Amino acid sequence: MSSDAVLAEGDSCSPELPELPELPARALDKRELRGLVDDLAGRPEVWRKHVAFSADERHYASLYRDEYVDVWLLCWTPENDTGWHDHDVSSGAVHVVAGELEECNPRIGGEHVRVRVGEGTSFSFGPEHIHRLVGSATSSVSIHAYSPPLWRLGQYSISDDGVMRRVSVSYADELRPLDA
Ligand SMILES: [Fe+2]
Repeated sequence: MSSDAVLAEGDSCSPELPELPELPARALDKRELRGLVDDLAGRPEVWRKHVAFSADERHYASLYRDEYVDVWLLCWTPENDTGWHDHDVSSGAVHVVAGELEECNPRIGGEHVRVRVGEGTSFSFGPEHIHRLVGSATSSVSIHAYSPPLWRLGQYSISDDGVMRRVSVSYADELRPLDA
């Protein structure tokens, strides 16, 4: 993630999001996270000013972070690929507000699962989820929410002979394929 988009530890909510819906003072489950990103998708005045694109690195903006949840805006080009990763102990939700993403899930010994997530659609997942996201349309934009807030992530490589390995990385590092 670009360092200028990451709020320092201990910062509370962004003053740009005073209208964030009332959130419970606890970790949110994946259904609640999906409701949050669906709600924010319908309020482009909150996130539109953060939209920007770079083929060299994924563009991120932190929209909100407190002790229970963090919310990000991500902007994608077809060159942007997270590589395989998990979200450690966090659940998450993604709403695509422009363009299209492709989500892949690793399948050991078979073809990986590939799902296209188009504009206006969302999905959510628990901490057991392993995936890879790619911007499959030019100028794609998505809103992501995680609870508890991201702190560490697991990043995976799959070797040519199919062996999968995990590396723990900071949420402040930009995710990229380890085997690229
Ligand atoms: Fe992810």
